[in-house]
Amino acid sequence: MKVFIKNKDELTFPCDTLILPVTEDKGIGIYKNIDSRLNSLIKGIIKSGEFSGKQNQTTLLHTQGKIKPDRILLIGLGTLKEVTREKLRQAGGKATDILQTTHANNCALSTLIFRFLRYSPADFLEGVLLNDYSFRKYKRETVRKGIEGFTLLTEENLRKEIRWKEAAVSASHLARDLVNTPSNDLTPSALVKAARALKNISVKVINRNEAEKLGMGAYLSVARGSHEPPRFIVMTYKGNNNPPVVLIGKSITFDSGGISLKPAMGMEKMKYDMAGGAAVLGTMKALTEMNLPLHVIAVLPATENLPGGSASKPGDVVRSMGGKTIEIISTDAEGRLVLADALGYVKKFRPSAVIDIATLTGACSIALGNEAMAMMGNSDSLMKKIKKASDETGEKVWQMPLFDEYKDYIKSDIADLKNSAGRSGGLVTAGYFLKEFAGDVPWVHLDIAGTAWTDKGMPYIPAGATGIGARLLLSFLKSLNTKG
Ligand code: BES
Ligand code: MN
Ligand code: ZN
Repeated sequence: MKVFIKNKDELTFPCDTLILPVTEDKGIGIYKNIDSRLNSLIKGIIKSGEFSGKQNQTTLLHTQGKIKPDRILLIGLGTLKEVTREKLRQAGGKATDILQTTHANNCALSTLIFRFLRYSPADFLEGVLLNDYSFRKYKRETVRKGIEGFTLLTEENLRKEIRWKEAAVSASHLARDLVNTPSNDLTPSALVKAARALKNISVKVINRNEAEKLGMGAYLSVARGSHEPPRFIVMTYKGNNNPPVVLIGKSITFDSGGISLKPAMGMEKMKYDMAGGAAVLGTMKALTEMNLPLHVIAVLPATENLPGGSASKPGDVVRSMGGKTIEIISTDAEGRLVLADALGYVKKFRPSAVIDIATLTGACSIALGNEAMAMMGNSDSLMKKIKKASDETGEKVWQMPLFDEYKDYIKSDIADLKNSAGRSGGLVTAGYFLKEFAGDVPWVHLDIAGTAWTDKGMPYIPAGATGIGARLLLSFLKSLNTKG
């Protein structure tokens, strides 16, 4: 979809669909020029009760040559004072559903209502762009191309803001593509390829032999059960010489559980166990596209978790890179094992902050459902910044505690730690386990197990991979730059 900004009039702009956002209280007064040309058609629709401007309500009407646009799409925003950036995104997403089903190619958005709002038409556009996604790589039938052109009718110069939105959305879309791709194609080596496809980012790949030399016993214990070569990917974007911000994304390209095998029902979903890595990769793409003057290192510890003949077994003890030993209670708690070595590895960069993002625990979705990711960490100021990015992007985070009492939960009889404390407190004990490896760098952990995938779709996310985390991390990084 190509985005244009034009200072043109709604009545005379040639397009197949003109979008008019309507609030419940303001009604259609601001569109009276248009409606009088339509012989008060819209007024009649509102009077009949068919459309009132409720959030995400839509009505499509045909103009029959009375004005230049062929159709008008009314989209509800709720009441004026209750409009938020997230509601605008959702309205944009909802509008896109209609535009797609009605085969719209060239659309325009009236921005008159934005004079009364604290937000920008770019926020509505973001929802349009985010929802304009489908994963068709494995479908033979060719389908109609999406919406071709989308024009914002405004005199404001929104170019820069729109460039940011486009970069953020393409980061999400890249993440969704990677997550939706099945594990037979999206192997650890395929992730390397995706990393190498990014411009201005140097990529270093640590293979099994080197990882052994580095002492990554925890990471390698997960890779043992698969014939697919593990790839520990390190990407560097050097936009300045400051100590780096490190992003770590869990990249289990398929999680069968290993010897602690998962139930067959729903196991196909476990191709999405690399959603953290995908979010990080997407973020890196946007980072270089927008040339942010930051130093960011991304680490994707990629491997499959399979129950092959050499797989790790429950009861095995492995040594992590930092020296701590871990008793493997469940080979299905593999995420924290690969993250333990990733956290160990990045110490040498002396990072100013480390953020890991991972589909780490089923307990995360038990706690928060599919609405928010769980956030834990050792730095309140870092968590505050992430919370701000969350409010900005609508990628919700909710903080969970890392009480010292949880230390006992992951004590092992024979090793320094064990990798599973059982069901009780599953979300926070996983976080606490990571904390033991983060040491004293400012660190935040984001568990996206409940939010990386949506079965039924959401207002601006089609069913499947959500791409969550990419927009959040980008917004966080952007805020570091502007505040110096
Ligand atoms: N990748 C899973 C977590 C997961 C579950 C993500 C469902 C998305 C949806 C993770 O590796 C895992 O299996 N965790 C175990 C940990 C347990 C064995 C301590 C879990 O949550 O059951
Ligand atoms: Mn697992
Ligand atoms: Zn997993």
